[in-house]
Amino acid sequence: MNIHDRRPMGETGTGGAVAFRLNGAPVSVAAAPDLRLSAALRDEIGQTGTKSGCDAGDCGACTVLVDGAQVCACLTPLGQVEGCDVTTVEGLARDALGAALQRAFHAHGAAQCGVCTPGMLMAGHALLSAVPRPDERQVRDALGGVLCRCTGYLKIVEAVQAAHGFLAEAEPVVAGSTEFLAAESGRRESAAIGARIARLDGLPKLDGSEIYGADQVPEGALWLRALRCPHPRARFALGDLEAWLSARPGLVRVLTAKDVPGENSFGIYPHLKDQPVFSVAETRYRGECVLAIVGEREAVEAVRLNEFPIVWEPLPALTGPRAALAPDAYALHDFAPGNVLTRGRVACGDVDAGFAQAAHVASGAFETGFVEHAYIEPEAGHARRVGDAIEVFACTQAPYMDRDEVARVLGLPLDSVRIIPSACGGGFGGKLDVSLQPMLAVAAWLLDRPVACVYSRIESMVSSTKRHPSQITAKAACDADGRLVAYAMEGDFDTGAYASWGPTVAGRVPVHATGPYRAPNVRNLSRAVYTNGPPSGAFRGFGVPQAAIAQESLFDDLAGAAGLDRLEFRLLNAIRAGDATPCGQVLEASAGLAECLEKLKPHWRALLHDASAFNAGESRTRRGVGIGCMWYGIGNTGMSNPSTMRITLDAAGRLTFWNGAVDIGQGSTTALTQIAADAIGLPVDAFALVVGDTALTADAGKTSASRQTFVSGRAAEAAGRALRADILRLSNAGAGATLSLDGARLAISENGVATVIDLAALPANADGVVLEGVGAFDPPTVPLDENGQGVPYATYGFAAQIASLDVDLDLGTVKLNRIVAAHDVGKAINPMLVEGQIHGGVAQGIGLALMEEYLPGRTENLHDYLIPTAGDVPPIDIILIEDPEPLGPSGAKGIGEPALV
Ligand code: FES
Repeated sequence: MNIHDRRPMGETGTGGAVAFRLNGAPVSVAAAPDLRLSAALRDEIGQTGTKSGCDAGDCGACTVLVDGAQVCACLTPLGQVEGCDVTTVEGLARDALGAALQRAFHAHGAAQCGVCTPGMLMAGHALLSAVPRPDERQVRDALGGVLCRCTGYLKIVEAVQAAHGFLAEAEPVVAGSTEFLAAESGRRESAAIGARIARLDGLPKLDGSEIYGADQVPEGALWLRALRCPHPRARFALGDLEAWLSARPGLVRVLTAKDVPGENSFGIYPHLKDQPVFSVAETRYRGECVLAIVGEREAVEAVRLNEFPIVWEPLPALTGPRAALAPDAYALHDFAPGNVLTRGRVACGDVDAGFAQAAHVASGAFETGFVEHAYIEPEAGHARRVGDAIEVFACTQAPYMDRDEVARVLGLPLDSVRIIPSACGGGFGGKLDVSLQPMLAVAAWLLDRPVACVYSRIESMVSSTKRHPSQITAKAACDADGRLVAYAMEGDFDTGAYASWGPTVAGRVPVHATGPYRAPNVRNLSRAVYTNGPPSGAFRGFGVPQAAIAQESLFDDLAGAAGLDRLEFRLLNAIRAGDATPCGQVLEASAGLAECLEKLKPHWRALLHDASAFNAGESRTRRGVGIGCMWYGIGNTGMSNPSTMRITLDAAGRLTFWNGAVDIGQGSTTALTQIAADAIGLPVDAFALVVGDTALTADAGKTSASRQTFVSGRAAEAAGRALRADILRLSNAGAGATLSLDGARLAISENGVATVIDLAALPANADGVVLEGVGAFDPPTVPLDENGQGVPYATYGFAAQIASLDVDLDLGTVKLNRIVAAHDVGKAINPMLVEGQIHGGVAQGIGLALMEEYLPGRTENLHDYLIPTAGDVPPIDIILIEDPEPLGPSGAKGIGEPALV
């Protein structure tokens, strides 16, 4: 074991090493005894399986076992483990119980992005060591200190409870858990669409070997730290940077706007590069990056930012759209007088006539606040210059978009930038914008040394995008029978200081704001408004959840006014195949809302009966049951969003899937491989996977808008079919032939006759590839006109969910009892992954509805900003509806966002 001498700057240290046993082996670390154990494990010993999500004991990602008890390694001083037994995820498989727990997590789909998984495994192991057969409550209590933002916890709880059943298969002691788990994986049956196979990229998430942005720092890398504005708006003046720098050994450079070689700006839309890499003279939100300090890591970490030579002049700030839209408000950007970034509009029929003829009208005003993504992995990565090119390794949802931004900032051609995505520890839309990539690239380019950066939790929260706060007024009307006759809404969405995905939200909201219903007369208007808040960007649903809160609330009122049951009212008005949307798009197929509602009926009646019985008693607690429906257009709104996939077969028989779709935990790596495998006719286990590297894989588009299964799935299907067609042509076989691959021998069997192709004998290109299939898909859409008429999406997901909950009428507290979720996904390519997405989306929806609000300056950490824990998510019953989408791969649509909406 390497022993380093690292003492934090300003610490005195004892001069002695701290000795303990790590995963059964003695180690000795020469570092200050008050160094965090998490830092000692990761930085001194090089075991990065223990993750660091907050350094404050809030997220539990760093949970390890000290003498068998779970502790947060970030709150445990190194000196405290002197003489102790420390167990981390890297050592979990040393005992049968740990190995069984890993197997259970794998089989149950308990890891999505996987960044919380080491902590969850350790917490689960501590429980199982004491209570071999825990009940659900015991598991939830044991996991209560570890946050997961992806899974909704249910499959984790299931896995811990099921672990005992995996003991029989586990070997007692295993030297290398990866090999052990790989052997398990190898016994998996061939994949087919619809199979509940475990994640193909799942094993490294379970043994600590997955590499996230902070887990790989090149030898000799410098460290980068941003200085950010502490005010919502301020002017600033820099002092003598050279003098400050020269007085601090180990610091190398301070980077400001004038150091940017290309354009000092970035943004999502080509015409809206409005956010500076480094501020120029004035800032627009609390958390804006002003400059970056680069140097040796210890020197950079020792800098006290309040001693930096910068003078702030706070300026009056605009908080919220009302202030920003006031006639005397200053304009944040010259190109947006009045602070309106963009407007959206969808109008059809005659709304005024519709309201005039209505029997019942409901109206209301609704507001929602900023919501933080709270992915457990803060932004992290590094950049290095390679001759006249730059490489950036970082967590991202959109590698090709990152490439384009970095190229602009450096003034380089696109092919001089390579983006290598790390494993992504959660994104939910928040990692669609660049964060540290431009800064790292500038630093590495100018200094010609690798440069790394890891955001703190607070830095992640203050600097990153948020869900748009909304201010919505809406009005809905129906006739005497309960049929909708008109709907109108106006919504202002606080897009914060910079555009980010504001135009997408303003465009998507009016399309969806009437909900998945037949409505003949509609006028939906939206505005994205600049303010001095944090930039609002993409967050699971792009504004649709905010609009759905208003619309579904009004529909409850209308149902009551019309004397209809709330489910029946929705069923009466549910949009179906053959109906036109408010955009004038006729849904030709795959509109499964009515079936969702039909399947929910017995649950609805049972839960209403249960609530009625409960409320008959004398109690200050009252039970309520609610229902809501949703729809969600898959992919970009009325614009191209293509994906290209490639599958190759080389002379040695290696089948490689070159897949540019970044898997942020949702499971696209697995689902797309299942689609590709069936398209070719070979098992998923036959594939080598290359995922999301701009130098190796074609552009699959961003991982957002629930698009990868539908769009990239179709591309994967096309690539697989193209390769299969070539194989069949070579062997003169018909469409029904079966394939098998054994090294370089590719056998094609038909009617009992096998033809063998010797791949080694085929002409190969420079990479040894003898056969390849390339497939592309761009969903057919028609841009919206000035009234929002057109075809915004090629297909839509639909869902209806019921919630049963108890409200304490004195305290106002809410306890969820059960959620029943019916989702039309077209086709569940992998039902286990689909369920995981629904659980996770529901959990994030619970957070949005009941717990979360980001307040700049107040809730900038995971102690003050509360997200659902294992104790907050109720049982969720899932009903999958498969109303096939003719354009989708085997009928599949998407599921990432619908569950939250
Ligand atoms: Fe738990 Fe992603 S799987 S945070």
